[in-house]
Amino acid sequence: MRRSLPAWGRRPNVDDAVAYLRETFPDEPHYIVEVGSLRTPGNTYGDGNVTYCWIEHINLWPYCGEVVSIDVAIVAVGNAMRAGATGICGDGMDELWALTSDPDYRIHLLYLDGSNDPSEALSQLLAAEDALVPGALVIVDDAKKKGRCVRDEARELGLTRFDLGDAWDMEAWIWRG
Ligand SMILES: C[S@@+](CC[C@H](N)C(=O)[O-])C[C@H]1O[C@@H](n2cnc3c(N)ncnc32)[C@H](O)[C@@H]1O
Repeated sequence: MRRSLPAWGRRPNVDDAVAYLRETFPDEPHYIVEVGSLRTPGNTYGDGNVTYCWIEHINLWPYCGEVVSIDVAIVAVGNAMRAGATGICGDGMDELWALTSDPDYRIHLLYLDGSNDPSEALSQLLAAEDALVPGALVIVDDAKKKGRCVRDEARELGLTRFDLGDAWDMEAWIWRG
């Protein structure tokens, strides 16, 4: 269970994303996958600590679901696991390929908050795409730094941008499937 919850920083953006999940997928489990785990618990403003928010949502959601948290750093994965996530230590793209090799694997929300290399975020999206359900939300955090390639791809695919507000620099796209 979470011990603290970000009350500032990205919280308004995340609340909008959770509201979208509730409205779009009202009667099923929600599967959330994040790249970039809980690096520094308590750094709610700088890092965001949004793992807590995803887990809070799953804990409150009557149909349950799962938060899967992927990071190359074992400490960050451990933090996410202690908060209630399923942790995977490894490279985001590689681990997403592995997860989505199961044809039944489904993702309702993909949250990309790994390195600041925008091509890495795109490679993670491409690795996950077979598992994204139609209407899934793809979120890139710190989008001015990380989001360029995903933005180009989303525009190429004609995806609709979902407005998460301007509390933090997050960009979200609605996957068409
Ligand atoms: C900005 S931090 C994530 C912050 C986290 N979302 C939080 O709220 O605390 C970025 C994280 O991405 C991880 N990372 C960087 N490149 C990665 C990659 N290729 N695959 C998986 N994780 C990666 C880093 O180890 C770091 O923990």
